[in-house]
Amino acid sequence: MANELRIGMIGYGFMGRAHSNAYKRLNDFFPVEHRPVLKAVAARDRGKVQSFADNWGYERVETDWRAVATADDVDLVDVCAPNHLHLDIVLAAAEAGKMLCCEKPLAMNVREAEAMVEAVEKAGVPNMVWYNYRRVPAISLAKQIVDEERIGQPFHYRATYLQDWTISTNVPQGGPGTWRLDIDVAGSGVTGDLLAHSIDTAMWLNGPIERVVARTRTFVKERVHAVTGKVQPVGIDDACMFLAEFANGSMGTFESSRYARGRKNYNTLELNGADGSVFFDLEDPEHLHFFEYTQKQSGKKVEDHLPGWRKIHVSNHEHPYMDMYWVPGTTIGYEHTFVNALADFVAGVESGNPTQPDFRCALQTQKVCDAALESARSGRWVDTGAE
Ligand SMILES: NC(=O)c1ccc[n+]([C@@H]2O[C@H](COP(=O)([O-])OP(=O)(O)OC[C@H]3O[C@@H](n4cnc5c(N)ncnc54)[C@H](O)[C@@H]3O)[C@@H](O)[C@H]2O)c1
Repeated sequence: MANELRIGMIGYGFMGRAHSNAYKRLNDFFPVEHRPVLKAVAARDRGKVQSFADNWGYERVETDWRAVATADDVDLVDVCAPNHLHLDIVLAAAEAGKMLCCEKPLAMNVREAEAMVEAVEKAGVPNMVWYNYRRVPAISLAKQIVDEERIGQPFHYRATYLQDWTISTNVPQGGPGTWRLDIDVAGSGVTGDLLAHSIDTAMWLNGPIERVVARTRTFVKERVHAVTGKVQPVGIDDACMFLAEFANGSMGTFESSRYARGRKNYNTLELNGADGSVFFDLEDPEHLHFFEYTQKQSGKKVEDHLPGWRKIHVSNHEHPYMDMYWVPGTTIGYEHTFVNALADFVAGVESGNPTQPDFRCALQTQKVCDAALESARSGRWVDTGAE
């Protein structure tokens, strides 16, 4: 059928599940022409990947990702494997002419990311990176508020992304579930895993980050490697803090750690401008906090005589994405950020107006991550080169 979108998924873990749910739900909620068909899924363990395929409805399984990335019956390759595999999968799939949706961070480093951008642009294939937090309705509403010039001249951007699951010295590095602690598989620690999200959202809301100065810390210096069984040095950053200068003249602070006891997925942002501020906390995802200092009257900005923070329940039909779901006052969840991202991607393919963030956009985030890590090594301010 002409409007089939045949999906080839690589990896069946956390993101494999989140994306499979998005493919299955897309047409239930969004009026796009394409209908995802769960064609094939690849992972190394046949038994496990078969059981995933049976559960989610994939037609077949492969144990070599190449058999999915280049398959004739696949239109879109979805990269949900650990970071060190993204480059090879993307290069093979792009050469085979597949559309590409890749998980974040796009790559292990800028060099890889540049090769991936070149590959998809040379192949001319639609592409997207799953920076799904842009698709939280409250964050999308923050973007609308910025675009409506309600914040005014921006002064400060503040991001935190905190977790607490690696504090124990018994957590191994490497292997299923803990590959994020293995530098050779993850590329970096919290910088690529968590701050990449914060950076993507920050540059979406507040424009390019020009320079950074960073500190990183590895609190537990050796851990058992789950694959080799040996105690090995830990190469990742357990925590990263950096100062940023945005091209628009505002200042930023970014903080991330997996050692913030009690914090599970504490992802917050705040933007302060001359005329207003926005604040968002992912642990309270249906709310956007907005302070408006000025209001427009007869086309002019005037001081509001009743200033104060508004806690907006982002559930009305005029709010981003919310007209696709339930009645005002009811909420959607984490999984819908992936449905929304997929809907935007497919709508972009259908309209010929590509959705963001594409690979080139995600390369800018990679540049900031690499600059932060470089700064932490050198102790100096580093220009990011991000556009
Ligand atoms: N957008 C987000 O919010 C978000 C959240 C979590 C993870 N991620 C990203 O998604 C990617 C996957 O993370 P995850 O949490 O789903 O990991 P996971 O460990 O839950 O799943 C990884 C999957 O990759 C498979 N895999 C490993 N090696 C493979 C190989 N050689 N060939 C084929 N499959 C292989 C594993 O079997 C597993 O199914 C990473 O890049 C990660 O950074 C993004």
